[in-house]
Amino acid sequence: MAAILITGANRGLGFEFASQYLADGWRVFAACRNPDAASKLRCLAQDTGGMLNVIAMDVTDAQSVRNAATQLKDVAIDVLINSAGIAGASGQKTGNVDYQSWAHVLDVNTMGPLRVLESFSDHIARSERKLVITRRGPWAPEPGNGTNRFRGCSLGPSRAVGDRPEFAARPA
Ligand SMILES: NC(=O)c1ccc[n+]([C@@H]2O[C@H](COP(=O)([O-])OP(=O)(O)OC[C@H]3O[C@@H](n4cnc5c(N)ncnc54)[C@H](OP(=O)(O)O)[C@@H]3O)[C@@H](O)[C@H]2O)c1
Repeated sequence: MAAILITGANRGLGFEFASQYLADGWRVFAACRNPDAASKLRCLAQDTGGMLNVIAMDVTDAQSVRNAATQLKDVAIDVLINSAGIAGASGQKTGNVDYQSWAHVLDVNTMGPLRVLESFSDHIARSERKLVITRRGPWAPEPGNGTNRFRGCSLGPSRAVGDRPEFAARPA
């Protein structure tokens, strides 16, 4: 049976991916920062006979990611979707850049997927599909006000190289 790991699965795109893969008969590992507060996700997990498992994971915390990987140590992950992400502070202009916000965006959106990929590389390597998807918006001028928002550069699509996924940072 195919298995998928989705980060940021308690709401937004991540929750929708979890619902749809579950409906398609996949085994779903739905990761989120705070499972106790993820009522929608826990509700979805009810009566699935273990097909949807809610996993605790903060992608900025390497130990949290490693703990999740240990919890799933014998599982083959066919598809990893890095959906956890943030947009950062809005309204930034040249001369008014919030570097702390940028650092946090890069931590969540760029280093987060890297942490997950690193900790789950064995799980991915033992699967059939070995597919990693990291969705990020580009540098985008906000219409009308001349400001830019930045969601962080993306990790390039992974390729199976030997039994290890290969990855590279590149501009979104
Ligand atoms: N929606 C779109 O049309 C669209 C288009 C292009 C790109 N994107 C990008 O795709 C990503 C997801 O979008 P979305 O619309 O689903 O966003 P969203 O509704 O704001 O959901 C963000 C998810 O990321 C989680 N998250 C934030 N920080 C985290 C961390 N440190 N560790 C683990 N999870 C964390 C959030 O968990 P909490 O509930 O705990 O905060 C939440 O589950 C974002 O990076 C977004 O910029 C979205």
